[in-house]
Amino acid sequence: MTFKVLISDPLSEEGIQPLEAADNIEVVVSTDLSPEQLAEEIGKYDALLVRSQTKVTKEIIEKASKLKIIGRAGVGVDNIDLDAATEHGVIVVNAPDGNTNSAAEHTMAMLMSLARKIPQAFYALKNQKWDRKSHVGVELKGKTLGVIGLGRIGAEVATRAKGQRMNIIAYDPFLTEEKADQMGVDYGTVEDVVRKADFITVHTPLLKETKHLINKAAFELMKDGVQIVNCARGGIIDEDALYEAIVNKKVAGAALDVFEQEPAVNHKLLELPEVIATPHLGASTVEAQENVAIDVSEDVANFLSGGLARNP
Ligand code: NAD
Ligand code: MLT
Repeated sequence: MTFKVLISDPLSEEGIQPLEAADNIEVVVSTDLSPEQLAEEIGKYDALLVRSQTKVTKEIIEKASKLKIIGRAGVGVDNIDLDAATEHGVIVVNAPDGNTNSAAEHTMAMLMSLARKIPQAFYALKNQKWDRKSHVGVELKGKTLGVIGLGRIGAEVATRAKGQRMNIIAYDPFLTEEKADQMGVDYGTVEDVVRKADFITVHTPLLKETKHLINKAAFELMKDGVQIVNCARGGIIDEDALYEAIVNKKVAGAALDVFEQEPAVNHKLLELPEVIATPHLGASTVEAQENVAIDVSEDVANFLSGGLARNP
């Protein structure tokens, strides 16, 4: 029996070799499908592989009569309707480890660029302005970094930030005082973290419980001049509240890799000079893309051959 696998977002070519190499699998790569076209096509496929662009909605899953497995080449599965998948007996697998390092490095790049206003200075220089006065930054050394979500990426960021001689205070529901001690970080509630931090970085999944975790009330608790980084998911930070906090000078700067609605072009936050941003590039390295594509392709190939999925 031959299984048909649809890849609907761009994935590393090397990474999909485990699928290409399988005798019982036919791979179709089609990365420009509209939601309507995907809904029309999906009925032919046994497996679907996506990154974050394809929204695997209830409507798509309801049309997917042969679908057995959805592979997410990355961590966040918030672009997949998990309830609908479960209801239709479709297993969802992700690749939780392959992009951790890249996402942590991107977070550090954003944190350092934010502190030293590198994108703003570069933009001015590109526009023939040799402006040193407007681009005075702050040091990271001795500052407190608040890490909300101390999982794979949050922990890597904390380790790297300690290398910058920052103090770390973290909140994670699974963090114990003992674990915090071992990691050399202070432990606090979300309120403690937002009150004490000079810089705050969020690394939680986007869940009902984390939607707008950083909201108007949280901004009010923060130190004046705090700076915020979000390389996790748009929606963890309430964008309207962030906008207001920047305009009111409570927040001195924000570095955003993710937005509530993506692609985020013409976003009001991007009009503020205090905001620097990248278009969801946290996992966009050659290494991470190969890692996640291999992990998810192996899992899907193995599952279609009767094996167990590693990361359901
Ligand atoms: P992870 O599962 O290893 O860690 C997430 C942590 O968040 C866990 O330790 C969990 O206990 C914690 N958490 C859950 N609910 C929480 C809450 N209410 N308050 C505080 N912490 C809470 O995941 P990860 O691999 O570290 O990924 C973190 C985030 O980064 C995810 O949203 C993922 O989708 C995102 N991500 C983004 C990019 C990018 O391209 N920008 C790349 C990779 C991952
Ligand atoms: C993830 O959750 O892994 C990231 O959003 C990376 C991505 O696929 O772009």
